[in-house]
Amino acid sequence: MLSAITTGKPAGRRSSVFYNDVINGLRAANKYLQSKYFYDGTGDRLFQQIMACPEYYPTRCEMEILQHQSDRIAQLFVEGNTPFDLVELGPGDATKSYYLLRELLKIKAPFTYYPIDISSNVISSLENKLPLSLPGLQFHGLNGEYMEKMERVSNISAQRKIVLFMGANIGNMTMQQAIIFCRQLHGRMRPGDLLLIGFDLKKHPKTILDAYNDGQGITAAFNLNLLKRINRELDADFNPELFEHYPVYDPGTGACKSYLVSRISQQVHIGNETTIDFMENEPIFMEISQKYSLPETDYIARQSGFHAVHTFYDAKKWFADILWERLA
Ligand code: AVI
Repeated sequence: MLSAITTGKPAGRRSSVFYNDVINGLRAANKYLQSKYFYDGTGDRLFQQIMACPEYYPTRCEMEILQHQSDRIAQLFVEGNTPFDLVELGPGDATKSYYLLRELLKIKAPFTYYPIDISSNVISSLENKLPLSLPGLQFHGLNGEYMEKMERVSNISAQRKIVLFMGANIGNMTMQQAIIFCRQLHGRMRPGDLLLIGFDLKKHPKTILDAYNDGQGITAAFNLNLLKRINRELDADFNPELFEHYPVYDPGTGACKSYLVSRISQQVHIGNETTIDFMENEPIFMEISQKYSLPETDYIARQSGFHAVHTFYDAKKWFADILWERLA
């Protein structure tokens, strides 16, 4: 595939990280886009709708764990009997963590809640909502990158840390990326600190594939929305109707991958200096949603300096929130 690059783009846009990531992905031999860019305003709304789809089970499974087992989770958090900082990476609207926070307040656990999110909207809406829904909660929202803000929390407070990384967000990394990410967390935690991490587990392949191919086409719209975002923000001319959402699941590796496949041979322009050629049926790799077996989660823990203390499942054992302890 040929991509022609000339100059002439407004400097601000051309130098943006988003622009460079898009151009690099679309000029690669196997085209790809990064799924972290799904979440503009429309992407956030579509993701909310995905979570409500009958086929998309992970959110309901994890919600069930938090609704029914927050008392046990909270007990394990307070076992050390010392004040702690509860740091949540990517809290969203905190619907799931709400149950845990409520339980911790109920048992008068001495803690401060630090939600960290890349979206300033997420943090400001939590700042409005939490004082009303959870009166008495000590919290300090931080807007920015996870690792940088975790260091900030350590500078603010020397209390022990309990980190929440739920929602199967770890699944949007390959296993190797997940190990690197968990090692980075390890580097920002101290021996004995805890990490509650959500994994979507391997199950019948059709159940998994259906979750990424809902009947209403919301997941398709979620993927196609990134093309619209590129059109809007990078002055491109993708016609989303000329791309088809195509998810696949490999039960051997546990990798669920989403592609957008070009329906025809076509050219797409990004600004007036970049042309991307697509062959008919050529895919753009959009997202991985990796599914795990328990031994595989243990492997990630070992490789990144943690060990599992307790595993919380939903009734169907489709999802696990696993409590890891940071080793020395
Ligand atoms: C955010 N993340 C865990 C979701 C997942 O299941 O991989 C994103 C998603 N993509 C399509 N549907 C949901």
